[in-house]
Amino acid sequence: MTALPEALRAPAEAHQVLDRCRELVRPALVEAVGRMHPWVGEMAAYSFGWCEVGGAPAVGSGGKGVRQALAVLGAEAAGADGRAGVPAAVAVELVHTFSLLHDDIMDGDAARRSRPTVWKAYGTGPAVLAGDALFALAVEVLAAAPGGPQGVRLLSVALGDLVRGQADDLLFATRPWTGPGRVRPEEYRAMAEHKTGALLGGAAALGALLGGAAPSVVDALDRAGRHLGIAFQVVDDVLGLWGDPTVTGKPVHGDLRERKKTFPVLAALDSGAPASRRLAALLDAGGEVGDAAALIEALGGRTEALAEARAHLAAVESALADVPLEARPVDELRSLLEYLVRRDL
Ligand code: IPE
Ligand code: MG
Ligand code: MG
Repeated sequence: MTALPEALRAPAEAHQVLDRCRELVRPALVEAVGRMHPWVGEMAAYSFGWCEVGGAPAVGSGGKGVRQALAVLGAEAAGADGRAGVPAAVAVELVHTFSLLHDDIMDGDAARRSRPTVWKAYGTGPAVLAGDALFALAVEVLAAAPGGPQGVRLLSVALGDLVRGQADDLLFATRPWTGPGRVRPEEYRAMAEHKTGALLGGAAALGALLGGAAPSVVDALDRAGRHLGIAFQVVDDVLGLWGDPTVTGKPVHGDLRERKKTFPVLAALDSGAPASRRLAALLDAGGEVGDAAALIEALGGRTEALAEARAHLAAVESALADVPLEARPVDELRSLLEYLVRRDL
């Protein structure tokens, strides 16, 4: 067999994939945001990282655009031109941004991507309104696309699941660390699948749908994205505890202070070691959270979380292997998985 040139054999680089998809989607996204009420549109542009408060062009960068890339790759994996997935990409990116605006209010978070959150910068009411507008725009864009009505249904299911996951996430914070009312790892998995996986899976599935894929392909991509969501969320939890705040853009230990039932904590409490009782007492006392983070690590919470993430990545692979897909976009998809779940670990 003739060896391929090195450039063709090298695995696709995640940032190149993200850049390519962002370039493909950006004109349609800019056009859609340009149709918003100017003030609301500024909040949307601010959250995309396109401008500063007041509308001056931004110097920093916006989000990674993972969901829009998944939509483009979903269409391509189904054998279509990536352009077929653009309305899906625009819709999921708008919905994602909408969910973040509202999430930052729910979580009381003052910073995202190292900038003030929209509610901090513009006020809570305006941020709620901007979220609503982004959602409406997403539906409008998708409904106008070929395959739109079915797409709107798929997006609505994903968003319904996202709400379910957010509800559980909020409720988990009110539950005890130990005892019969404690949050079990399987409840966490369902929460993460809904909160994070539904939209990741929905993005790839929606792209495939608009690319004319068979229902089995749409389903497989949805399943893959849901497992990716759990893996991503677990890694996000790890970064929240041990990540560098200058990289994550979020305050360190914020999740612990909010009594978030993150996977590393649940795994550490589940270990049965005597130190896990000390951890529960420490968390209940709500004192110095840095001590708790060290104890979670000593109890294996970090190691178990990373193993959990790897198990879900394996499930992503088996979902992708279930159906016939185009090789190149699947290779690019894999580079995103690597990137998302490894990040700076
Ligand atoms: C946000 O969840 C996911 C949404 C459904 C919007 P988190 O609250 O865990 O995520 P971050 O840390 O704010 O991004
Ligand atoms: Mg949040
Ligand atoms: Mg949240």
